[in-house]
Amino acid sequence: MRRPLIAGNWKMNTNVAEATNLAQVMLAELDEISGVEKVLCPPFVSLASIKGLIKGMSIELGAQNMYFEDKGAYTGEISPLMLIGLCDLVILGHSERRQYFAETDEIINKKVKKALEFGLKPILCVGESLEDNEAGRTGEIITQQIRAALTGVNSTSQLVIAYEPIWAIGTGRAATGKQANATIGLIRNTVASLWDIETAQAIRILYGGSVTGSNIAEFIAEPEIDGALVGGASLKADDFLRIVSQTAAIKST
Ligand code: 13P
Repeated sequence: MRRPLIAGNWKMNTNVAEATNLAQVMLAELDEISGVEKVLCPPFVSLASIKGLIKGMSIELGAQNMYFEDKGAYTGEISPLMLIGLCDLVILGHSERRQYFAETDEIINKKVKKALEFGLKPILCVGESLEDNEAGRTGEIITQQIRAALTGVNSTSQLVIAYEPIWAIGTGRAATGKQANATIGLIRNTVASLWDIETAQAIRILYGGSVTGSNIAEFIAEPEIDGALVGGASLKADDFLRIVSQTAAIKST
């Protein structure tokens, strides 16, 4: 049985005061929900403050990005050495990083290796554009992204993958549960062919893209979908709590 995981990606929203406030509003209730791994991914500058707030709670922190070098003259970058001890997970290869910051599959591959080397669990994001989706190339694109990101990476159940179709991110146009389940099944098969069936069955694969408290049930009910990477709705305490509590309820039955 895979432990469901819900991660809130706050993206480039909230200053430190707003982030600690948002966390404070939901922490007590979030902590009470069992059966789901709960992860908050605030901006870098708020990780330390929120880490103080979640002490002793069943809540984890994730970073939204990371560089692939340990240290040195890389002005403005954040190294894995700065993240260890501060958070447990790190989002890598988000489509916004690929699109706006020119992250290639090769860069993402280096980041995945580096995160694992330092014991940070990568949440590796993959997803196809609307154009590729409409041209029927989803399977091909996703398979290629997974293969490239995992080149030379040893089999590990620590890896988390998020399938986030670009056309569903921030658009209010989520994939259907069935669509997402089919692509996530394909991702699992790709991992099985690269690594082994046991590991492919053990890793968590999430859906992301316009997930809300109103549609989470459709995704969570699907057998291949182990949780969600939530953007906009994770900035609303009520909605995020609803997503996590519904996940706990559905996956426990
Ligand atoms: P939205 O939930 O806002 O569509 O964002 C999804 C996402 O990109 C999470 O990483």
